Amino acid sequence: MKAKEGVVNLLNKILTADLTAINQYFVHAKMCENWGYARLHHKVRERSIDEMKDADELIGHILYLDGVPNLQRMNTVQVGETVPEQFKLDLKAEQEMLALLSDGVVHCTKVTDFTTRHMFEEMAKDVDQHIDWIETQLETIKQVGLENYLAEQIKA
Ligand SMILES: [Fe+2]
Ligand SMILES: [Fe+2]
Repeated sequence: MKAKEGVVNLLNKILTADLTAINQYFVHAKMCENWGYARLHHKVRERSIDEMKDADELIGHILYLDGVPNLQRMNTVQVGETVPEQFKLDLKAEQEMLALLSDGVVHCTKVTDFTTRHMFEEMAKDVDQHIDWIETQLETIKQVGLENYLAEQIKA
């Protein structure tokens, strides 16, 4: 199927953000594992895998639209040196992703590509969940203190 004006470009932009997020969350998960936070390692790794599923879907859809998926481009992976820093950087990444997806929804509506628009809307739902999870962690840290929070993360 032939893509509507600007859609492949948008899909590739979001793909770039997802490829960046895969790596960022993956390294954060590995750092948590190294610090002994088994529980956190598992959760953050899961988020990395979610972004991989997004990338899989985006690549498939770009090819379906006879476009060329761009896997060479990546944004800067922002690595946090502490758990709260990691959360703040991941939150920023998710917020940027939400802005891209919102632009995508608006554009797809304009050029009447409802399949891609639906895909962006579904991805935005995942972003909402990721944002909610990170915000909950930050709020819990505020309430129980970082040490208490981290002590809970040691359990698998
Ligand atoms: Fe994503
Ligand atoms: Fe996400």
